[in-house]
Amino acid sequence: MLAAEAVSTDGLLVTGTDTGVGKTLVSASLAYLLTRKGVRIGVAKPFESGVADPTDLGEDGRLLRWAAGCRDTVDRITPYRLREPLAPALAARREGVHIDWPYVIETIRNRHDRCDFQLVEGAGGLLVPLAGSRLVADLARELGLPLLVVARPGLGTINHTLLTLESASARGLKVAGWIINGLPPAATVAEQHAALEIARLTDIPCWGVLPQVDGTSHEKVISLAQVMQDWPVIKGLF
Ligand SMILES: Nc1ncnc2c1ncn2[C@@H]1O[C@H](COP(=O)(O)OP(=O)(O)OP(=O)(O)O)[C@@H](O)[C@H]1O
Ligand SMILES: [Mg+2]
Repeated sequence: MLAAEAVSTDGLLVTGTDTGVGKTLVSASLAYLLTRKGVRIGVAKPFESGVADPTDLGEDGRLLRWAAGCRDTVDRITPYRLREPLAPALAARREGVHIDWPYVIETIRNRHDRCDFQLVEGAGGLLVPLAGSRLVADLARELGLPLLVVARPGLGTINHTLLTLESASARGLKVAGWIINGLPPAATVAEQHAALEIARLTDIPCWGVLPQVDGTSHEKVISLAQVMQDWPVIKGLF
């Protein structure tokens, strides 16, 4: 059970201010870290687009499965694997794929008895359409999971992050916290100040700032997990 300042939960829906901000890397690093603390982690990337071979997991689903040492089937980790790198609702429509929404919700909910904590990665940002008019925000609401918002450092991120937090709150969603991910070694003034400026303007807790790291995706997960393990919010987990 996570007892962050803002929420108490047995899972998180990891969303971001945009696509490519590091949701998968952050989710995988959390999964890696918590798995090594003995927590049984369930991972899901229920809608993944841009999957070259939809008979298997996409890159996000694979990294999450590896990080959590998870044995769930491909269909349970990513029920909908779509070829085109588009918002899932649009990719599904173009590929003639019907999305069975209640099936997605049930698949994720049904794992509660087999894992202690669920990490579910959205797609793109909070208002990305997943199925028809259902958005990532609806997935979080129906799963009853609070959000963890991943943002990039740099110019524009104050606005994108506050818009995401405000939209979540307007929709009645809980937000467990937010993370700035990918701070480069020679950070600009905007990059250095992003977290502090956002923290001045919201009561939602910042979990921390993650640096830009090198290596393969597995090596990046391990490096980021090492940084996260010293964060107070993570030390308070379980
Ligand atoms: N802290 C970091 N250090 C180095 N590389 C990073 C870091 N965070 C993310 N990246 C890299 O940036 C790219 C995008 O990250 P990631 O796939 O986690 O983003 P995402 O938000 O999950 O994207 P999508 O919307 O496609 O799911 C990846 O190549 C990843 O390895
Ligand atoms: Mg991803």
